[in-house]
Amino acid sequence: MLLKFTTIIPICVLLVCGSLHAAEDLLIEDFEGDSYGKWTVTGDAFGTAPARGTLPNQMAVTGYRGERLVNTFLGGDESTGTATSPEFTIERSHIAFLISGGPHTDTLGIHLLSGDETVRTATGSESEHLLWASWDVTDLKGRKVRLRILDNATKGWGHLNVDHIIQTDSPPKAFDLARDLGRYRRQPDYMNEPLRPQFHFSPEIHWMNDPNGLVFHDGEYHLFHQYNPAGNSWGHMSWGHAVSTDLTHWKHLPLAIPESNGIMAFSGCCVVDHNNTSGFGDGEHPPMVAIYTGHGHGKQVQNLAYSNDKGRTWTQYKQNPVLDLNAQDFRDPKVFWHEPTKRWVMVVSLAVQKVLVFYGSEDLRSWQELSRFGPAGTIDKPNWECPDLFELSVEGEPETKLWVLEVDMSDGSVAGGSGGEYFVGTFDGERFKARQHAQWVDYGRDFYAPISWDNIPDADGRRIWIGWFNNWETCLVPTSPWRSCMSIPRSLSLKEVAFNKEEPATYVLNQRPVEELKELRASTRTLDATKAAWPPMAVTEKDELDDMSFEFEATITPATARSVGFRIRTGEGEFTEVAYDRHYSGIYVDRSKSGIVGFHDAFAGRHIAPARTIDGEVTLRIIVDRSTVEVFINGGETVISDRIFPTSNSPSIEVFAGDDSAKISSLKLHKLRSIWRSSQKSE
Ligand code: FRU
Repeated sequence: MLLKFTTIIPICVLLVCGSLHAAEDLLIEDFEGDSYGKWTVTGDAFGTAPARGTLPNQMAVTGYRGERLVNTFLGGDESTGTATSPEFTIERSHIAFLISGGPHTDTLGIHLLSGDETVRTATGSESEHLLWASWDVTDLKGRKVRLRILDNATKGWGHLNVDHIIQTDSPPKAFDLARDLGRYRRQPDYMNEPLRPQFHFSPEIHWMNDPNGLVFHDGEYHLFHQYNPAGNSWGHMSWGHAVSTDLTHWKHLPLAIPESNGIMAFSGCCVVDHNNTSGFGDGEHPPMVAIYTGHGHGKQVQNLAYSNDKGRTWTQYKQNPVLDLNAQDFRDPKVFWHEPTKRWVMVVSLAVQKVLVFYGSEDLRSWQELSRFGPAGTIDKPNWECPDLFELSVEGEPETKLWVLEVDMSDGSVAGGSGGEYFVGTFDGERFKARQHAQWVDYGRDFYAPISWDNIPDADGRRIWIGWFNNWETCLVPTSPWRSCMSIPRSLSLKEVAFNKEEPATYVLNQRPVEELKELRASTRTLDATKAAWPPMAVTEKDELDDMSFEFEATITPATARSVGFRIRTGEGEFTEVAYDRHYSGIYVDRSKSGIVGFHDAFAGRHIAPARTIDGEVTLRIIVDRSTVEVFINGGETVISDRIFPTSNSPSIEVFAGDDSAKISSLKLHKLRSIWRSSQKSE
């Protein structure tokens, strides 16, 4: 033992001494001045001085040092220009800088010039968050060079952000997820910040959007998701990963599919290839195969990756892509095994055209087009994304089975911003035919890109999906060091409903929280709300809801009153209203005074879902988890999902009724346990 130490110590000492003698970094430019100094500037993209952060109409620029940086969004993406440094001599092994912005290598970038020759280049990668990048310039040591920041790009992402350029012998890493996670896991409020949902899935740190690759395999529900390993806003899209054995407790796992060689891993799906049709199996287990969109180098293509160890490690298919239309907006494949035709079926979106393309395959590798669907539904709105297609039974008529085709639009949805619509119809293995008009998936603003789990055993038989609890328009929500959570997993069925007497009944997609959620109930109490009147009055005890994660079930009788309902997450001048309003024949969530609302103009507002009275009553199940509200109306015929960002930490539930005719005839409160505080949840 001792011997070992004596041989190791001198090496350690040498290493430490070595690093002590590493030459100090040399600052080339920090762009902190109120002019560009000795840099030569042309065009209109740079202005007369480095920018003070974010410019008008730009998403938040983060990650720069000090007060200022180069930001060529001045005047928007259309502006162009160059900024060229004075000459300097290369004295270190690397030139490093912070960079973000557009990816267009031919028209945008920072260039290293030796004489008139460009010897190194770098660009951004469709994010406003600056990260370190560096060039190894060992071979150029002693050479006189210049830097040029160039913006000739005029379309989307036609701008660049650059800051803090140095010469160094130890270039900083672009990002270090393991280090950042390590630091976060030591925080005393780990997974317990005031706005952190306690029984909805959220990433430990950084940005998340769509759920991806939902599949049940070997006792585990997989929840892959769009994830930025580098920061708390969109960028560097990769597949994050979590698993659960009960759809309520989630375990965070390491990154599954990273961005690689400038190709981001966009949304997609995952199947278990039971018959090893793909040949990716190891002979022992059926492989898991992920089918996802590769986004980069100006186009979107469909790629495969596979895993033979329960999704813990992934191998890219060497002959990727498996589908390439040379198209810029071709994304989000959902694949399933179609038993009657004994082949795989894919539905994937030509997003800008609002056309879904159906493909068939024997082996997941080679795909033939079967048919197309669309434009249809709300056709004047932009981008169709993240389609899903599945068969469902009709409640009360188990023999009647119909297909649901769900698709999401990036803007212009029912409550504004992004949201989803669905078509009910038939699918014969080749073609989908809608048999009624499109309907909204969720009437709130924050339920996007829902995707259903594949491969749930027949013995269970449920179709369950989960959605991104956010809206692209207001996605930069005020939480840190993480952004976004998922909805509660919802169990789906079809139900025949007539919302009013004038209209014929239609099949609606009924969504209800999965039964497993009830396992988290820590206590249940009946509240007396029968005396609801105006003004609103509290029905919970002081401090009763301090942990802010609960659900309640209510039956309301609107009778002739204009409105009747609840104020939740109340505080000083602060509340979120959930109530029936006769004027709309519907239930609304009003978050105008819900707490922090000013981070985006479109955030505050009222979102209304149709609600019929059944024997004079409307039933509600309202799930509240610190910064989320989900309202399931009449067992889930319609749903409203909204984020809220309250500042009060000791909220109550208040009840109100517009007149004496209205009643809240039953009200039951369930407090729910946190899924994060019971045990170690991460690998
Ligand atoms: C939808 C979406 C998808 C895309 C992904 C990128 O929210 O725009 O169409 O694959 O996000 O993160």
